[in-house]
Amino acid sequence: MLFINATLATMDRATPYGLTRDAALVINKGRIAWIGINIPAEYRNEQRIDLEGRLITPGLIDCHTHLVHGGNRAAEFEKRLQGATYEEVARSGGGILSTVAATRAASEADLLASALIRLDALIAEGVTTVEVKSGYGLDVETELKMLRVARALGRERLVRVRTSFLGAHAIPPEFKNSRDAYLTDMCLPALQAAHAEGLVDAVDGFCEGIAFNADEIASVFAVSKSLDLPVKLHAAQLSDMGAVGVATRFGALSADHLEYATKADVGAMAEAGTVAVLLPGAYYTLRQKQKPPVDAFSAHDVPIAVATDCNPGSSPLTSILMAMNMACTLFQLTPEEALRGATDHAARALGLADLGRLAVGMHADLAIWDVEHPSELAYRIGFNPLYQRWFAGELTP
Ligand code: NIG
Ligand code: FE
Repeated sequence: MLFINATLATMDRATPYGLTRDAALVINKGRIAWIGINIPAEYRNEQRIDLEGRLITPGLIDCHTHLVHGGNRAAEFEKRLQGATYEEVARSGGGILSTVAATRAASEADLLASALIRLDALIAEGVTTVEVKSGYGLDVETELKMLRVARALGRERLVRVRTSFLGAHAIPPEFKNSRDAYLTDMCLPALQAAHAEGLVDAVDGFCEGIAFNADEIASVFAVSKSLDLPVKLHAAQLSDMGAVGVATRFGALSADHLEYATKADVGAMAEAGTVAVLLPGAYYTLRQKQKPPVDAFSAHDVPIAVATDCNPGSSPLTSILMAMNMACTLFQLTPEEALRGATDHAARALGLADLGRLAVGMHADLAIWDVEHPSELAYRIGFNPLYQRWFAGELTP
């Protein structure tokens, strides 16, 4: 397949967007085979698609979601609008634990059906890779159920799914007075079982006053490393608990949220090669005031990714384009940084080397847009200019 008259945002790191006009691109056997201006003789007879100047970007990557969950938290939304804080709701037994109850009660088929609706919204915006976390089960059976549903999403739709085990998300009611027992008797055995079933691509945690402290997270990460699983962490979202320190000590792929990350944290992330995943949907929903230290990330060359954090509590957001827009308006990312955050850097946050840029040998996951310039993707609000989506070299419906 030969695309001609295309504008390419290759996301090559040397130039803005890797922007190339009047370009051509060849895909073969699910991979990008050639990119350039003057089409070599060997490709001139390929089947052609004239894009009439439309923009090709890498398929978008949503590198932090909680797509699989039961129920919704509209009632909690109203409580917070009346003045209750996210932490107050959590401490009174609502918040994450109310979603745990709904997720435990839901059948595998129900969880799949509701997650597919949210996944389809992402796919409609050119998402070709999505990360999905567990963490609303908090018992062995339901954590496994969530991860099986996450894997099923990748069979039901043409999308790459990466799973993260998030057993260290909250303490369930039955372990309220025995935190250590929760970790040793539930969280770690669930991780082992999920890993044995091939359900885990990475291990995540929530390091926060309403969740787990740095030592508790370290105990989970030590086991993750012994299983050869990469780690990532919900870090410094609502306070500074030393979360980024524990993430970087374990060479985390990413640290996510980061509103309360310190200068020292940023230096440690640069050294560890940890990606900063910004989640402006949660910042917006919780009406936070303190922004993540974006300038420091840039000054230290810490790669910044942007994701929806799609979840029923702090970020009921199913639009990666909206997350990119919010990252610009709320956190002052440039539109280029926002697009890189949902392509190149999102792939790095998932440890995926052959996704997120247009280059020879990379997977042919493409989004084709009816726009003149890639800055338009982050600029509009609630508008979807997707023209076509290609997954592994195939045009998807
Ligand atoms: O990424 N911060 C912790 N976990 C999720 C939210 C979980 C929830 O409120 O249901 C987050 O914001
Ligand atoms: Fe999250």
